[in-house]
Amino acid sequence: MDKKLLKAMNEQINKEMFSAYLYLGMAVYLEKKTLLGCSKWMQLQAKEEMEHAMKIFHYLLERGCEVELDAIAKPSVDYSSVKDVFQKTLKHEQFVTASINKLYETAVAANDNAAGIFLQWFVAEQVEEESHASEILGQLDYIKDDSPAMLMLDKALGART
Ligand code: FEO
Repeated sequence: MDKKLLKAMNEQINKEMFSAYLYLGMAVYLEKKTLLGCSKWMQLQAKEEMEHAMKIFHYLLERGCEVELDAIAKPSVDYSSVKDVFQKTLKHEQFVTASINKLYETAVAANDNAAGIFLQWFVAEQVEEESHASEILGQLDYIKDDSPAMLMLDKALGART
């Protein structure tokens, strides 16, 4: 694999692992606020992020490439509100989308068709990731300080499987 592409692939493993950590940190905050449904949603999101990291991990091993596992940064567990949590989720997903798009472009520039096809799954996945965070943010806009409505949203998010 092209050196620059391999470096970016390894960095993406770290970004996905950090995403998992970030969302676990958010789950800690939400749990403390007794928003157990929101916390469950975040824990499942963290699990998904680990699966994203593992997809790349296995792909690099399959290609016989060197896997580099860098340190994962410490995430925050301090947020000012549920809205703050989901605003930061959306912002983070936008950051990941930009990173995935750059990674895809690097694969194309390296004429690595196999890596390009592999990365297309991530390109499509990011559309979903951003849309989920945006939808929840939109609902939070309606809720404002309405506690019963917040509890209903919490219940709905807790139904995620
Ligand atoms: Fe793995 Fe939420 O992007």
